Amino acid sequence: MAGDWRDALAGLNLTRDSYVTVLTGSGFSAESGVPTFRGEDGLWRNFRAQDLATPEAFARDPRLVWEWYDWRRGIIAGKEPNPAHYAVTDLENMFERFLLITQNVDGLHRRAGTVKLVELHGYIFGMRCTADGTVTENLEVPLAAIPPECECGAMLRPDVVWFGEALPERAITAALDASRECDLMLVAGTAAVVQPAASMPLMAKQAGAFVIEINTEFTPISPYVDLTLQGKAGAMMPQMVSALRDLIT
Ligand code: OAD
Repeated sequence: MAGDWRDALAGLNLTRDSYVTVLTGSGFSAESGVPTFRGEDGLWRNFRAQDLATPEAFARDPRLVWEWYDWRRGIIAGKEPNPAHYAVTDLENMFERFLLITQNVDGLHRRAGTVKLVELHGYIFGMRCTADGTVTENLEVPLAAIPPECECGAMLRPDVVWFGEALPERAITAALDASRECDLMLVAGTAAVVQPAASMPLMAKQAGAFVIEINTEFTPISPYVDLTLQGKAGAMMPQMVSALRDLIT
């Protein structure tokens, strides 16, 4: 079975100068034990994530929203990167040009050592001042004060993108440029339904890149990519990175 998908890589002309991108979603952290956004395990006090991760919810009840984030931060703080996260760092070290585009806010890619990355939806241990937008990292778990306050006295908010908000300009520009310019894109652990991340693999494909998907199930982009591997990222990513390493000329 393993031979089948490796054969599909045969036409790839990879050198150390090839531009490689990786796009990840919440499935990538599932094997680390981080609850997914939409699954039942993501429920908190009977609230759905979609009802709490909004500017309206924060304006109405910042304490409630911060309590939910405190709960999520606590879960994530106790988890470790899994072999898929480390495989991304290995990949970064194999190529001169590389970018990881992640929709995850858990910071597990950072903790696995990946440096060239954009966090499209922000970082859950980042705090943004609601007065002047200054961002600081805060790893305190649980938080001493809810809602937390900035030194300037204004309320802090999580430095994440909420439903209905625009993505950070710099992150989206870097991600779109990389999607258009890369030679190879790996898409793993994302349902590929939330825009604009969902269209990045298709942009890469249209611009001539070879696109590989790793997911436990088929997704809307599966019919359009060059290779879809059904399986868990924690098992498949290290195998894929090893196969790509063998191809570099
Ligand atoms: P989803 O929860 O929508 O999709 C997770 C995907 O990972 C699914 O397609 C699963 O089949 C797959 N999956 C689960 N376990 C896996 C594993 N071990 N290995 C490989 N694949 C696995 O998550 P995202 O696509 O990340 O946005 O959703 C994107 C965004 O939707 C999130 O970032 C969040 C949410 O709205 C914001 O918070 C702004």
